[in-house]
Amino acid sequence: MPPHDDTPLPAHSASDEPAYKALTRHLPRPRFVPLPDYVRADEPQMLARAEDFYRQMARRRTTRHFATDPVPRRLIELAILTAGTAPSGAHRQPWRFVAIDDPELKARVRTAAEAEELKTYAERMTDEWREALHPLGTDHVKTHLTDAPWLVVLFAEKYGLSSDGSHHKNYYVDESVGIAAGMFISAIHMMGLVTLPHTPNPMGFLRDTLGRGTNEKAVLVMPVGYPRPDAQVPDLQRLPLEAIVQWNA
Ligand SMILES: Cc1cc2nc3c(=O)[nH]c(=O)nc-3n(C[C@H](O)[C@H](O)[C@H](O)COP(=O)(O)O)c2cc1C
Repeated sequence: MPPHDDTPLPAHSASDEPAYKALTRHLPRPRFVPLPDYVRADEPQMLARAEDFYRQMARRRTTRHFATDPVPRRLIELAILTAGTAPSGAHRQPWRFVAIDDPELKARVRTAAEAEELKTYAERMTDEWREALHPLGTDHVKTHLTDAPWLVVLFAEKYGLSSDGSHHKNYYVDESVGIAAGMFISAIHMMGLVTLPHTPNPMGFLRDTLGRGTNEKAVLVMPVGYPRPDAQVPDLQRLPLEAIVQWNA
């Protein structure tokens, strides 16, 4: 545990302290520690690192063609640990990961996902949605769910449950879980594996199949593994910088 910083918080006279501060006066004083392990780099170093990271990340692609080769559990643990370093609203860390390498369980997830996806593609999808997906060549057949050696299912904890059954609110759950998902995907890519952020629609079956609580909602199913030697990806272009940024007004 890092040393506890006992330096007093900035002094406020009673007159300049906002009234809302009194509302938390009954709570223990927040603890602060020095920012850990920060090393300021010089600009050329930062530029080199930023360019290298961007070049590596720009090579990331979503493929739907997975090899069946096994992947060590430690790599999955490290990707989940990386995701768990994500920032979160009020530090609630509202992400939970279920990592599956049991072939029988993967097959059950695939069967249930394909049943839902068949209904979605055949009956629930609007024409606009079907046309948007057309360039990706997706359909209800989800071979990747059994080919990939791991399925990592990301759940969002909508609210916390204490041991006495009481609920506590989580804040900015979707944003926090989305950031954690991005960090998981980045970790998988940077270690040299591939993943597919998959959203079988609707995803309610995952809570029952995987025995999760009613306070959780499945967000993504991410098969993880090596790409098949003949893996393909849709021919997509990414938006250029000027299309995604505005500098000042
Ligand atoms: C929230 C989200 C949901 C997605 N759902 C699916 C999906 O259900 N099935 C699928 O094949 N791809 C899915 N994708 C992958 C996208 O189609 C893919 O990221 C996009 O086409 C861009 O390709 P790229 O990842 O290679 O850059 C999803 C991606 C995101 C971020």
